[in-house]
Amino acid sequence: MRITSLQEYHEAYSLSIEKPEEFWANIANEFDWIKPFTKVLDWSFDDYSVKWFEDGQMNITANALDRHLKTIPDQAAIVYEPNEPGDEAITLTYRQLHARVCKFSNVLKAQGVKKGDRVCIYMPMIPELAIAVLACARIGAIHSVVFGGFSAQSISDRINDSQCKIVITTDGAVRGNKSIPMKETVDEALTSCPCVETVIVKTRTKTPVSMLKGRDLWWEEEESQASEECAAEPMNAEDPLFILYTSGSTGKPKGVVHTCGGYMVYTAYTFANVFQYNPGDVFFCTADIGWITGHSYLVYGPLLNGAISVLFEGIPTYPDAGRFWDIIKRHQVNIFYTAPTAIRSLMGFGDSFLEGKDLSSLRVLGSVGEPINEEAWQWYHEKIGKGNCPIVDTWWQTETGGLMISPIAGITPLKPAFATLPLPGVQPILVDEYGKEILGNGVNGNLCIKYPWPSIIRTTYGDHERCKSTYFSTYPGLYFTGDGCMRDEDGYYRITGRVDDVMNISGHRIGTAEVENAINMHTGVIESAVVGFPHDVKGQGIYAYVICEHPTINDELTRKDILATVARVIGPIAKPDKIQFVTGLPKTRSGKIMRRILRKVAEGEFGSLGDTSTLLDPSVVDSIIEGAL
Ligand code: WTA
Repeated sequence: MRITSLQEYHEAYSLSIEKPEEFWANIANEFDWIKPFTKVLDWSFDDYSVKWFEDGQMNITANALDRHLKTIPDQAAIVYEPNEPGDEAITLTYRQLHARVCKFSNVLKAQGVKKGDRVCIYMPMIPELAIAVLACARIGAIHSVVFGGFSAQSISDRINDSQCKIVITTDGAVRGNKSIPMKETVDEALTSCPCVETVIVKTRTKTPVSMLKGRDLWWEEEESQASEECAAEPMNAEDPLFILYTSGSTGKPKGVVHTCGGYMVYTAYTFANVFQYNPGDVFFCTADIGWITGHSYLVYGPLLNGAISVLFEGIPTYPDAGRFWDIIKRHQVNIFYTAPTAIRSLMGFGDSFLEGKDLSSLRVLGSVGEPINEEAWQWYHEKIGKGNCPIVDTWWQTETGGLMISPIAGITPLKPAFATLPLPGVQPILVDEYGKEILGNGVNGNLCIKYPWPSIIRTTYGDHERCKSTYFSTYPGLYFTGDGCMRDEDGYYRITGRVDDVMNISGHRIGTAEVENAINMHTGVIESAVVGFPHDVKGQGIYAYVICEHPTINDELTRKDILATVARVIGPIAKPDKIQFVTGLPKTRSGKIMRRILRKVAEGEFGSLGDTSTLLDPSVVDSIIEGAL
């Protein structure tokens, strides 16, 4: 499964294109199957359906945990670095993690959770979050992890969409010097979630919380009574493993569904190859498990490979901007995987936070979530990698389940700010706006994929039509990523950013429509239009144009009120960076907002607005520019 040279990469790539079924069957056969598969792939992008290893049975936790008990039971699986640097780090070996996952699986079973039931997990980055995820997988329940920064409203939307019957949370959370309520937020969410029967609460902050008789249970009490024996549920390869909600260009976030077999094979394969993980290496992925990166490369990919995975509860700037570097030294991290936004932010604090830090354990660096600009790449390369560590700029998406276009560490020749080449099994193509393939090199286009890979999205929960129309109808016969992309003279890929109405704020995906809906819920707001704009640290910031019923008495205060509403409806990550009050929006005669113009104004490019003659009222633009100056 492991590629060890550029030639082997090219050979693997060719085989994966010429004989994809043979290629993936060989890799899949390295795992433990309860019932071996005989069919490898069945697919159609026209009437969307993809099935990998369809008649095989397996359980991902049997492969991520039990399999390693024979070889490395006493090696660390998860190393938990708490928020407070002075607090003791906790290591869970494979044996210990296995035991705790089995126990919690029994806790869930005792609450009547069965195969196929949906479980909502809303927790901070503590080991129990990983344990809860794995326990669901062990008994075949479908986990739906909701990032701990989302609001009560966002939680209840997600719970109701997939009809979760149980929620797992903590009393509270700590991030940096902030204390964050968790159970209280869940309680607020649950006032509109009749489907939830049980809430399990792990103690983290010892914050007083309300516990309802008959509904709310303490994790510790339940776990202490549970047995350590729990056989892994046999799962069909195509049974759902989890739902993860992500933003699109329209409507509410959709529940991306991944299934057991293909996701296991692909995350394990890409982890082993891209990061060139060697036994005993310490891997530190800074993403929260609430995002796909945390699912695939903090929990599943590493554990499937018997890796040591660091799980960090805190933030990069607490107690100071040297925290990541201290963690790298403390745990002798060999492979470090983070987002460009974190790199840019730490860069901004200056190099003094790097003085005296021993980063000599590092061998490979990774970047994910948004385009990395060249300046950040160079800083990462020189200051963190000391010029010796390859940087893998990994392009992928919640929907792809695993890394898609990325260097293989130490093997693929790098170019700063390029995701470089497709991984084996990935067939990218660039198309123009009419869906015509753009051939050759030195070209730009919309990035599509023309053949399925094992961890491709299977459906959007409860609404397969939405999945078809979002990903497979823009360009019939192709999976459309939503990203723009350039392929340079050497055939190297560089992702240029979203071409749809999805923003990428600090590597977090947020739809413009979602933020508009939240702003429009604020009293007195008539209409709003939201666009992304270039932001030095966040990559993109959120710029909102807002029309109010009558002039505000105090613009600054109203802006803050609107921010509070957005934080309440979605969560603090969706708060606009700039709010401009306007009296009109540039609309075409058919009533469509011309976002192109709003984007230009947000970028400060007033001179290049393009053709405004099709606007219903072109003078609107002048007053918007005036207000922006
Ligand atoms: C963007 C995160 C440039 C892209 C794993 C994609 C990137 C969206 C990169 C998916 C990268 C991710 N270079 N852009 N290396 N990685 N993106 O679903 O726009 O949270 O469509 O998955 O992030 O975001 P998501």
